[in-house]
Amino acid sequence: MNFPLDIVILAAGKGTRMVSDLPKVLHKLAGRPLLQHVIDSAHALGARKIAVVYGHGGEIVPQRIADPAIAWVKQEPQLGTGHAVQQAAPHLPDDGLTLVLYGDVPLISLTTLQGLVAAANNHAAALLTVDLPDPSGYGRIQRDAAGHICAIVEHKDATEEQRAINEVNTGVMVLPSARLKGWLAQLSNNNAQGEYYLTDVIAMAVADGVPVHARQSRHHWEVLGINSPTQLAHLERLHQHEEAMALLEKGVRLADPKRFDVRGTLTCGRDVEIDIDCIFEGQVTLGDNVSIGAHSILRDVTVANGTQIAPFSLIEKAEVGADCRIGPFARIRPGTVLAADAHIGNFVEIKNSQVGTGSKINHLSYVGDATVGAKVNVGAGTITCNYDGANKYRTVIGDGAFIGSDTQLVAPVTVGENATIGAGSTITKDTPAGGLTLSRAKQLTLPGWKRPVKR
Ligand code: UD1
Ligand code: MG
Repeated sequence: MNFPLDIVILAAGKGTRMVSDLPKVLHKLAGRPLLQHVIDSAHALGARKIAVVYGHGGEIVPQRIADPAIAWVKQEPQLGTGHAVQQAAPHLPDDGLTLVLYGDVPLISLTTLQGLVAAANNHAAALLTVDLPDPSGYGRIQRDAAGHICAIVEHKDATEEQRAINEVNTGVMVLPSARLKGWLAQLSNNNAQGEYYLTDVIAMAVADGVPVHARQSRHHWEVLGINSPTQLAHLERLHQHEEAMALLEKGVRLADPKRFDVRGTLTCGRDVEIDIDCIFEGQVTLGDNVSIGAHSILRDVTVANGTQIAPFSLIEKAEVGADCRIGPFARIRPGTVLAADAHIGNFVEIKNSQVGTGSKINHLSYVGDATVGAKVNVGAGTITCNYDGANKYRTVIGDGAFIGSDTQLVAPVTVGENATIGAGSTITKDTPAGGLTLSRAKQLTLPGWKRPVKR
């Protein structure tokens, strides 16, 4: 790229049709605010400056996005797209190109944007256009007899003849910044909507001898904007379909690409199988031969080769080793690290704990703030009592220990290596390695005892 690129993102509009108290650009697609998608694209393009024009919804937009690289420009009142870009003009140095993006058009690909910027490079202007079977509502691209762009006419200002044009303005355009600022200063609001139209700068560019090029996106959905919950849901599915197709092409076996959601980045090894209705959030990495059972949710998790996760498991901010067996109905919470070949079974909750190689916690347990060694067997219903109401304490279980069912380990406490704890024990003191420890009332039977009878 020969010229520095500065980017203006328009995000001041009201979004009435969202029927929501949340500003439109903060609604989420694939787990991220619409505006965040656009900002991420701006960063990926290597923008020198990024100015976001906001207004409706007020300070909540800059507060939620919290990106120190952004110049926030408040537009109040909102007098049109041209007026919006004008507010950002002080952030657009004269030596650069300005790319205008919309905060409610989240999915334009980097390839499309790079192509558009390249088209404008030699101090020309470039417009992203799209041919729509039903162009109603959009600005129409007017071309002369030779096919050169001469203007954009807004739907409400267009003649019947102009309304028959199918090529429309997506709103995304690249302009030489110094020229743009001159044109913005000349805009008038003498039109059907009484607004300062950014689109009017195109005719001004043509009049000044600046060539205007058009480019189209590869996929029609890239340029779709969001105005309503219906459109948001539709675009979400289109996006998820693309994500699913990309994974299928890399060899990931999705049971059903329509019942699959990625809200972040999912990286998969070879021979990964994912059953229906799974959700992957944040950064998730699955090794070779991993299988994920139906209805599982993984958030910021790495899973090593050969691990099988059975249905309805929820795993967050955890590292899962190789060849583990997890679930069904397992809940693995932040800070958990499972070594290879660990088995975590049904209705087991693990939090902020390390579980060693080959250890098994298979049924109805809570293990929190614990260090569990290798080859440990934790019996059904065992819980760590890690919290005294004020502070949290650790439980340490040595290698090879056997914890009988329904044991309470009252932390801080250490169970020695190869120790055995009798079922039903409440362990409040450290237990020696190798020994049997139990704390329960001796079983007794009262001879001659009779059940009461009804009087
Ligand atoms: C605009 C274009 C139209 C194009 C269409 C594509 C103009 C005059 N028209 O029309 O050619 O076909 O987009 O969707 O540019 N915004 C502000 N401040 C304002 C007004 C708008 O920040 O004062 C923002 C909105 O939040 C939105 C974007 O600009 O993200 C476009 O505004 P919108 O009102 O949707 O423009 P349209 O009339 O649809
Ligand atoms: Mg619009």
